[in-house]
Amino acid sequence: MAGNRTFTMIKPDAVNAGNTGAITKMIEEAGFRIIAMKKVQLSAELAGKFYEIHKARPFYGELCAYMSSGAIVPMILEKDNAVEDFRKLIGATDPKKAAPGTIRALFAKSIDANAIHGSDSDENAAIEGNFFFSQFERF
Ligand code: RTP
Ligand code: MG
Repeated sequence: MAGNRTFTMIKPDAVNAGNTGAITKMIEEAGFRIIAMKKVQLSAELAGKFYEIHKARPFYGELCAYMSSGAIVPMILEKDNAVEDFRKLIGATDPKKAAPGTIRALFAKSIDANAIHGSDSDENAAIEGNFFFSQFERF
């Protein structure tokens, strides 16, 4: 059965461009409830830990450098079928391939600076949410 929580981060390009509010509004209007939210900046080392799953991929170094280059806004979100519905809301990894009206189509600059992250499974959503938030930061 599909779970009802997912994890997201608004990435440095979108935070820097002043799009945190617009993106958060789209997330809430799509029916997601914000369970936890904060603004933080990762060290390159912590970004490396978060993206450990991509360690062998050619873009890993750039990804970690990019994700630690500025502030991000991590969130835990709740909705029926959260993981799949949220991936639909954000659109394809490459904004050139993202469906019109999706968050990446509207706000992403490139495949690296692609505005937002969305967990790819219930299991990873739980791991990623626990990476950023303690049990006292969830509402
Ligand atoms: P995300 O994890 O950020 O939600 O993105 P995703 O599932 O759509 O893509 P994933 O394969 O998990 O890749 C994680 C992030 O790495 C960057 N990337 N660059 N240059 C490339 O070919 C490439 N491929 C992926 C993207 O920033 C992607 O969001
Ligand atoms: Mg991914």
